[in-house]
Amino acid sequence: MVASLKCIEENCRDIVSPMSKAYVCPTCGGLQDVVYDFQIDDPEEIKHLFLQRRLSNHLLDLSGVWRYRELLPFCEDVSKVVSMQEGNTPIYEAPRCAEYVGLKQLHLKHQGLNPTGSFKDNGMTAGVTQANLLNSRMVACASTGNTSASMAAYASRAGMKAVIFIPDQQIAFGKLAQSLDYGALTLQLEGDFDESMKLVKEITQETDVYLLNSINPFRLEGQKAIIIEMLCQRDWQVPDRVVVPGGNLGNSASFGKAIRELHDLGFIRKMPMVTIIQAQRANPLYQTLIDHSPRLVPVEAHTLATAIKIGNPVSWKKAVRAMDWTQGWCDFVSEQDIADAKAMIGRDGIGCEPASATTVAGIKKLIRTGEIDPEEDVVAVLTGNLLKDPDYATNYHQDSLYEEATYRNELLEKKDKVRSTFANAPIKVRADKEEILKILNL
Ligand code: F0G
Repeated sequence: MVASLKCIEENCRDIVSPMSKAYVCPTCGGLQDVVYDFQIDDPEEIKHLFLQRRLSNHLLDLSGVWRYRELLPFCEDVSKVVSMQEGNTPIYEAPRCAEYVGLKQLHLKHQGLNPTGSFKDNGMTAGVTQANLLNSRMVACASTGNTSASMAAYASRAGMKAVIFIPDQQIAFGKLAQSLDYGALTLQLEGDFDESMKLVKEITQETDVYLLNSINPFRLEGQKAIIIEMLCQRDWQVPDRVVVPGGNLGNSASFGKAIRELHDLGFIRKMPMVTIIQAQRANPLYQTLIDHSPRLVPVEAHTLATAIKIGNPVSWKKAVRAMDWTQGWCDFVSEQDIADAKAMIGRDGIGCEPASATTVAGIKKLIRTGEIDPEEDVVAVLTGNLLKDPDYATNYHQDSLYEEATYRNELLEKKDKVRSTFANAPIKVRADKEEILKILNL
């Protein structure tokens, strides 16, 4: 067997079988890594193999995760793979954003162009495949909307029952619509994401239901492919820095593991700095770091970027490890910064959801503070599609985005308006040619 599960806690490091359903260390309760006895002698040969597979129509090769299977070799029976041809996402040059943040050049890897519109699909193909290997019939997750949409889709493909726990009224409508359409049992809980997470952990520990949050280390194996694919697309030219939003901190954890493994295996000679950006009022990782706390400093999370409205992230220790390994950084940005950065990404013709825009906002802030050099080669990862949360975009462009607002069909209460710096409001006009020509200045 090439894979096993290893506790990340220094004073434990217990190793168990990959067929264990437990998602934390049975000895100390710590987070686990999937670890391998890699069978790779010549990285250059494997890089060439990855490139060649782009010409193949085999289902595994069409996937932007399983194409790189030598680097996540936990599934020996490939007939169990559940794939929707995930990954394969483009890297765009973003000149307007580069100018906006003060970089010479900026590249955006758009994970929002996955089958269900977010980076979660990279991880979910791996997580649901592992559930399949374990013959699980029912899978569950707590979610701010994207994990649940992705899990619902992949579970349906695999013929499994999906149960999702979402905080009531706190996820974007596009995401809720997806879970309903994909047939998941959808539980809207009073309370926030962190409470949903606590409950789903307890329930999955006590029953046969398999947990597919990113605390599940197999999810993170799939997400490693975001880094691997990005490097393949750049012909293995390693960027100086990779910038990623921070919520439950699974993605940053996974990026760190991917980079470390690629470095140790000889695929790359330098490590890009993993830079994590949180929302100002949902910044527990930042708080923990500035307090030099050995324990996480949880916060009560508030942000309009609902995907990352998380105050008690489960993978924080792995995220700290990712920053240590790569000499990375963590910072936070305001709601105003997120909203303006999102509009600027839009001006480059690229649509993302608010959480993704923390990256561009964060780069702008870190250039201002001198942490990032304007000459640096930076790749920011956009994590979700604009169409996940169209309300946010239309409110911003119509000058009605509020940090605190309650809706029931219409706006009931509003507080702390976000300025619509780059507003592009629609214009109401009579269906009259002359009037339209006047507006067009023609
Ligand atoms: N961006 C988007 C669009 C997300 O949906 C999430 C997380 C993140 C960033 C943060 O990633 O948790 O790995 O640090 N969404 C989770 C969910 C929590 O339930 O969909 P992370």
